[in-house]
Amino acid sequence: MSKLTPVLSAYWDQADSFTIAGYKRNGGYTAVEKALAMQPDEVIQLVKDSGLRGRGGAGFPTGNKWGFIPQGDNKEHYFVVNADESEPGTCKDTPLMMANPHVLIEGVIIGSYAIRANYAFIYIRGEVTHVVRRVQQAIEDAYKAGLLGKNILGKGFDLELVLHVGAGAYICGEETALLDSLEGFRGQPRLRPPFPAIAGLYAKPTVVNNVESVASVPAIVNNGVEWFTSMGTEKSKGFTLYSLSGHVNNPGQFEAPLGITLRQLLEISGGVRSGHKLKFWTPGGSSTPMFTDAHLDVPLDYEGVSKAGSMLGTKALQIFDETTCVVRAVLRWTEFYKHESCGKCTPCREGTWWLVQVLKDLESGKGTEADLDKLLDLCDNIMGRSFCALADGAASPIISSLQYFRQEYLDHLSAGTCPFDPAAATLFESVGVR
Ligand SMILES: Cc1cc2nc3c(=O)[nH]c(=O)nc-3n(C[C@H](O)[C@H](O)[C@H](O)COP(=O)(O)O)c2cc1C
Ligand code: SF4
Repeated sequence: MSKLTPVLSAYWDQADSFTIAGYKRNGGYTAVEKALAMQPDEVIQLVKDSGLRGRGGAGFPTGNKWGFIPQGDNKEHYFVVNADESEPGTCKDTPLMMANPHVLIEGVIIGSYAIRANYAFIYIRGEVTHVVRRVQQAIEDAYKAGLLGKNILGKGFDLELVLHVGAGAYICGEETALLDSLEGFRGQPRLRPPFPAIAGLYAKPTVVNNVESVASVPAIVNNGVEWFTSMGTEKSKGFTLYSLSGHVNNPGQFEAPLGITLRQLLEISGGVRSGHKLKFWTPGGSSTPMFTDAHLDVPLDYEGVSKAGSMLGTKALQIFDETTCVVRAVLRWTEFYKHESCGKCTPCREGTWWLVQVLKDLESGKGTEADLDKLLDLCDNIMGRSFCALADGAASPIISSLQYFRQEYLDHLSAGTCPFDPAAATLFESVGVR
């Protein structure tokens, strides 16, 4: 029996799923009618009761976040969607916005109504021009249909929605850096407290939510708490998008209940590329500690992954088979974090630079065994001592790869070079992707 539960991805195979007509034909924009007939606090309570947790990485309960916005404070409130999606391997928000931008817009209207915001923003990364065009068109169509602007659906609620295109920096996905960037400043994380719920965009109470979190709300409003909580595990409720990439026969988005395992997802997706076996994988993007074939049965929910020593993160499952050099993969990721470090704090700015130097030596077989301890020492001085989680993310693949593949690092030193053939690791040949 299929373990998939397509909700967000239910109509992605329809040619016009991204249009307002297609969305309405599939039941779209009925949840907003229901929500606007409720009191804002009732909407917040519904989302709280559903147990929906943020899909942007940290898994914070969405309803609780909305409930933190002070009410009756006579201040402007803002609802901000984080559509930056820049983490290596993370690739769910982009297809969601391409295939069904209106479910995101419907979620924005409901969320803004709940927290009593009359202005909302979608912050999207600059490189994805095709997605920018698609979402912009959807916003224009929603305005024309009376779903945005003044007196939405004649219910007396006003909402202006602005699509803001960033310049393509990973750090602008961190919610406070995003807010600085949205205000026109250089995107760098802010000191907290105050948290965005108290002083966010333009120092006003602000909710920042991931695309998938917001897009999950209309289905919850329409189908109810019982329906949503019937999927998932005790503390990780509902369905979610798992993104399989790398050495698998059938990469893509797989929408399934939280708590499914990689073994089950591989069964559904045609398995590791033919003739090869699983070596290592990330449960939630490159910033989450890697797993090996010993973790195939770990439940992919927030608790299960954390108990096994990693994080569910963005559910970006990057699969690597035995042809991949783990040292090289870790070096590539570390180069990314070094490049994307915003430079605000010393452990991350200097530390990621040094990590790259040491890893380059090790990968080319020129390092020494003492460099392995040096790597761990550098990570120890970065993790938990930096201003934001980018630095912790940079240390994670290094620490976990040394935990599981220390011998492979040593093999580079005894060979005096990388013992892997880079041509053998080619991703696309065997899966027929051109
Ligand atoms: C370096 C860094 C990059 C991040 N990038 C993203 C991102 O691209 N999209 C996202 O939704 N959250 C990202 N986050 C997490 C956000 O800070 C924030 O937790 C999230 O947007 C909250 O939404 P949620 O509660 O709906 O998950 C990032 C965090 C860090 C530290
Ligand atoms: S940890 Fe890195 S990315 Fe985060 S604030 Fe410090 S320098 Fe910037």
